[in-house]
Amino acid sequence: MNRANFSSRLGFVIAAAGSAVGLGNIWKFPFEVGTNGGAAFVVLYLFFCFVLCYPIIVAEIAIGRNTRLDAVGAFNKLGFPKWKIIGLLGVLCSILILSFYNVIAAWVIGYLFEMMAGNFAIGSEFSAFTSDGMKIGIYALIFMSLTAYVVSKGVSKGIEAAARFLMPSLLIVMLCIIAYALTLPGATDGVKFYLMPDLSVINGSVVYSALGQAFFSLSLGMGTLLTLGSYLPKQANITTSSAMITVTDVSVAFLAGLLIFPLVFSQGLAPTGGEALIFEALPKMFENFGETGGVILGSAFFLLLAFAALTSTVSMLEVPTSYIVDEWGISRKKAATIAASLIFIVSIPSLLSSGAVDGLTEFIQIGTSGQNISFMSLVGLIASDTLLPIGGFLIAIFSAYVWRSKNLHKELLAQNVEVSPIVLTYLNISLKYICPLILAIVVTITIFEGLFGIQVL
Ligand code: TRP
Repeated sequence: MNRANFSSRLGFVIAAAGSAVGLGNIWKFPFEVGTNGGAAFVVLYLFFCFVLCYPIIVAEIAIGRNTRLDAVGAFNKLGFPKWKIIGLLGVLCSILILSFYNVIAAWVIGYLFEMMAGNFAIGSEFSAFTSDGMKIGIYALIFMSLTAYVVSKGVSKGIEAAARFLMPSLLIVMLCIIAYALTLPGATDGVKFYLMPDLSVINGSVVYSALGQAFFSLSLGMGTLLTLGSYLPKQANITTSSAMITVTDVSVAFLAGLLIFPLVFSQGLAPTGGEALIFEALPKMFENFGETGGVILGSAFFLLLAFAALTSTVSMLEVPTSYIVDEWGISRKKAATIAASLIFIVSIPSLLSSGAVDGLTEFIQIGTSGQNISFMSLVGLIASDTLLPIGGFLIAIFSAYVWRSKNLHKELLAQNVEVSPIVLTYLNISLKYICPLILAIVVTITIFEGLFGIQVL
């Protein structure tokens, strides 16, 4: 079978980093840091990304490139049909995650329009904004259609082209805002909250939120990277590509925190603002740049954020689409339309759970906090904090014990690519022992504390 390839290794890294960098870095990371006590969360997050997630990224990409198939077909082809559960879990996970991710993307589109209209007051009207189910529904439909359009065009044309110039632009705008934010009165308190860890705040929920955030941010654990890897040319070095993806993603998240917390503290907002945090803190800052300056900077920021979200939603929709194309033999265009329509329907309750419908907003009491969480937060807790790490656990076990390190190494070293023996040894130990052990412990905490409210840590 003839499978389209990325035009170059850099093309692959850009596409994978485009998938990784998104709302997870700029919207989710700062609010998770804020609700989980600040710098201590950052420390855990960095540890999970580099020590735990990096080896799993390598394994996921290697399985994809070796089989050149989707996340379900890959395991069949390797001769372990039972393990296709990883792929099926991934298809389920991509549907769940995209269903709430698309809602946040819809908010971003809405804020883009508000910034273009110079309505900076929207920062303090966030809850009224998200309560308008009809409006958010229309934005969500626009965003999902855009995603389906890009996916139906195929991999190298769609994802690669978009990410190539948008990511650097986003970085430049972020750096400018950081430089300004750090000069604001009260900014140092924000930096302290963000960077001076108070380890006493660490509890079970801080630990599993940091792990879930690491997986979510790196697009790991549900076959996105496996699917992207299936388009990677043989001569590309998987270990260095994975390192570049990890470093890029973590850097953008780190900068987003450095951007948001000075703003939050200088405006006297609470860092625990949750999903609203960036939407409340940013507009007021743009207003400081005057009518014209604010409109330009604010619109540019939300436009680039929308594009960053699009490269992520594209990579998520790619998972069920690629599954339908490869396993059911349906055309890419039809497959993308079927998957996107299904996900849009699944997203409707999430869309209505930020104020539009009370029963969905205060959906269920879960975990140890004694508070009700929204339908959308519940989907996030199940999909990104629970299912992704379970997926990562299974990938580690599969590559170390079933497919075996020997075959993994063969794939990493294909076409005489050079990989340092230290890296290979580390990958070995990590995938065999460290990842399974730590993931098993943290997933247990997530299920007991997060889902059933039984304190274990
Ligand atoms: N990583 C993306 C972000 O941070 C979201 C994302 C894209 C994702 N593809 C994924 C998350 C696959 C989990 C799995 O915004």
